[in-house]
Amino acid sequence: MTEHGSAARAGGSAGNGRHADQASWWRSAVIYEIYLRSFADGDGDGSGDLAGVRSRLPYLRDLGVDALWFTPWYRSPLADGGYDVADYRSIDPTFGTLADAEALISEALDHGIRTIIDVVPNHVSADHEWFRAALAAGPGAPERDRFWFHPGRGDTGDAIPTHWVSNFAGPTWTRTTNPDGTPGEWYLHLFTPEQPDLNWNHPDVGAEHEDVLRFWFDRGVAGIRIDSAALLIKDAALPEVPASPAPGRHPHVDRDELHEVYRAWRAVADSYDPPRILVGEVWLPDPARFARYLRPDEMHTAFNFDFMARPWVAKELRESIDTTLEAHGLVGAPATWVLSNHDVTRPVTRYGREDSSFAFAAKRFGVPTDLRVGRRRARAAALLTAALPGSLYIYQGDELGLPEVEDLPRELLEDPMHFRSGGRDPGRDGCRVPLPWSGDRAPFGFTEADTAWLPQPSDWAQLTVERQAGDPGSMLCLYRTAVAVRRREGALHDGALRWLDSDGDVLAFSRGADFVCLVNLGPEPAALPEGSSVLLASDDLVDGRLPQDTAVWLRTARPHRSAQIRSVPMKE
Ligand code: NOJ
Repeated sequence: MTEHGSAARAGGSAGNGRHADQASWWRSAVIYEIYLRSFADGDGDGSGDLAGVRSRLPYLRDLGVDALWFTPWYRSPLADGGYDVADYRSIDPTFGTLADAEALISEALDHGIRTIIDVVPNHVSADHEWFRAALAAGPGAPERDRFWFHPGRGDTGDAIPTHWVSNFAGPTWTRTTNPDGTPGEWYLHLFTPEQPDLNWNHPDVGAEHEDVLRFWFDRGVAGIRIDSAALLIKDAALPEVPASPAPGRHPHVDRDELHEVYRAWRAVADSYDPPRILVGEVWLPDPARFARYLRPDEMHTAFNFDFMARPWVAKELRESIDTTLEAHGLVGAPATWVLSNHDVTRPVTRYGREDSSFAFAAKRFGVPTDLRVGRRRARAAALLTAALPGSLYIYQGDELGLPEVEDLPRELLEDPMHFRSGGRDPGRDGCRVPLPWSGDRAPFGFTEADTAWLPQPSDWAQLTVERQAGDPGSMLCLYRTAVAVRRREGALHDGALRWLDSDGDVLAFSRGADFVCLVNLGPEPAALPEGSSVLLASDDLVDGRLPQDTAVWLRTARPHRSAQIRSVPMKE
């Protein structure tokens, strides 16, 4: 593909959504996350790759998604699933070649699907040429200034420079060995030692990233997902973390200087025609601090993890929806709705637990789970999120209702979160098990090899794409229909959300003039508004009422506050 041709096409011909204004496609897009290693294997080595995705593009077209977000596909030792990038300008050989990536970007556009790639600016791989040069050059060398090298504290330099805690548990500093074999300086890594943090005060770091953005924007990618976006800048004085840091003054989270970085990136993105988009991975508890990243000259959108982390409780979800819409409204940015991703417990499993909230620190082996309940709730959650204003993310396999795989053999686990927690945290491998495509036995059409890189449970025979495609009651058919209805319903793109009067356990809201979504989280069935007709339901209605853990989309004549949604006892 030529650079010119692809760049021009990145937003021009794609977008089979209903936006009159193609430049705003991202405001209500459906974006499908591909964890490349586990989507589809094209070369028969048991691990997913670009050839596998290319062969499955018709599946993604039929699902109706507007864009694909690829987790990192660059050359990497895969110490953290590719979030340890050794070279941004080449594709890891496990996944294919740069030519394969260019072909994929182009072929996806032929199906009306844009491509978003992952950029990991907080750290690189210890195999990155910059870090290798820094180690080789030794203490005091300018090559070290692109990272956070620091002498240890104490007389012998044995004491760690700070006691900052890694996002993956444990210390954030590792001591080096000097070229002459003596103990050397320490270097900072907020994640694993294989992921040294970059020093964003060094001019090379920003310049290199802007060049990387251009490299991929020139190849037709429509946007980037920014990894760990609130962590890049550190306080150069390296203080300990105070008990209650002032907003913007934490030593390594959400520092005010970060916004300059994203303003510069936005300028790069806006210099393209059509403009490219920035999506941030921003984990921050304070909605106002979160929204600052979405000011008009910064990112376009950021993942809304607050909603994802809430338990399946109507009051909690409603509160999250309200806070989200309010915070985004202040900066004029659309919200995002995310039920899961490659880092968190699959919704079918999470919602099947007594505590259905999500927190990394709370993950444990052996939590009792009712998958039947979880599946029902995950179906309702799919319709709820698809009806909310903003863009929607679907993590591969959620459309098949895959549960978390919780009994992977321990010797096959790879996730550093598991190992760094001393084995307490099961880690993230269980949500990264390769997709089941067809057939009755593993590897279910995922690969021509005998086994996939992580084994799939034998009962996934019920969950293959092949099996579900022919079953109107399947999760896959629910997702396909929901995305198709969402695409054609104008109200689901730009209709304002208005809450309707309802009992506490029922979420009821309208979008635009005549679209209503109801979700019943309580035990009593809820009556539908008079004169409404059902567009889509996550499960069967019972005697015309909406049973527990069910969502419905309605066409209604009068979607106003007067449309009382009442829960009625079964034996009324
Ligand atoms: C967030 C990514 O989603 C996760 O998979 C990764 O481990 C960390 N950032 C570190 O890059």
